[in-house]
Amino acid sequence: MDNRPIGFLDSGVGGLTVVREVFKQLPNETVLFIGDSARAPYGPRPKSQIIEFTKQLVNFLLKQDIKMLVIACNTATAAALDILKEELMIPVIGVILPGSRAAIKATQNGHISVIGTAVTIESHRYTQAIQAKDSQILVSELACPRFAPLVESGGYHTPVAKKIVAESLRPLKFTKQDVLILGCTHYPLLRSIIQNVMGDNITLIDSGIETVAELSVLLDYFNMSASQSTPKDHRFYTTASVKLFGEIAMDWMNQKSLSIEHVELKDL
Ligand code: DGL
Repeated sequence: MDNRPIGFLDSGVGGLTVVREVFKQLPNETVLFIGDSARAPYGPRPKSQIIEFTKQLVNFLLKQDIKMLVIACNTATAAALDILKEELMIPVIGVILPGSRAAIKATQNGHISVIGTAVTIESHRYTQAIQAKDSQILVSELACPRFAPLVESGGYHTPVAKKIVAESLRPLKFTKQDVLILGCTHYPLLRSIIQNVMGDNITLIDSGIETVAELSVLLDYFNMSASQSTPKDHRFYTTASVKLFGEIAMDWMNQKSLSIEHVELKDL
């Protein structure tokens, strides 16, 4: 048993899609989350800067004695997971491998598409992970750079969101995938719009859901699950506005109150 919190990080509010699953699949665990909305989106930034920012967020979480780290951001996973795994003394997981495994399981016709930020798509991490398991699977990749800023602004329910999603996904109309990986943790907030545009015969994979299922296995494997009786003291930190973060977090996670604090970039 280990009652210390699990650390989660993202460039902004996207990682909350992973935390929502933790509340559902692992209700005994305590969440410590930091979202760097002040510097989001990470997607168009150079890899070296994403590594630098990610390390700052990791250090912030490590100071609060986390037992495990989940990089709840595909972009940071693509850029920094390998380095963090080497450098940290605690178990670290990202979101790309769990999403890839779920997509392989779901495809019937052997053609998977992935959408994500520019950095994630240009890293080809999803294609590599999928084809390392099954080289026969065809993977199509598409960057959707307008999605994360749309979600960060809180505008994910608006008619503008529908227009942006329809325009951005147009290239996938010409591909024959039966599975689409939401390769950015911000995208599940646009899930119903994406499903509408793609049609009901396309299976959407939410990497966050798959990551939490694997986190659950790891907690058991390392004998690190929290006990049922621990009082949960979930804490959320944002480098930007507590108000906007709170509105999105409470809407998305269906919570009435959450402990959310602002962190200055200079204190990271
Ligand atoms: N939520 C992030 C991801 O999963 C990044 C979005 C961004 O900051 O560009 O890729």
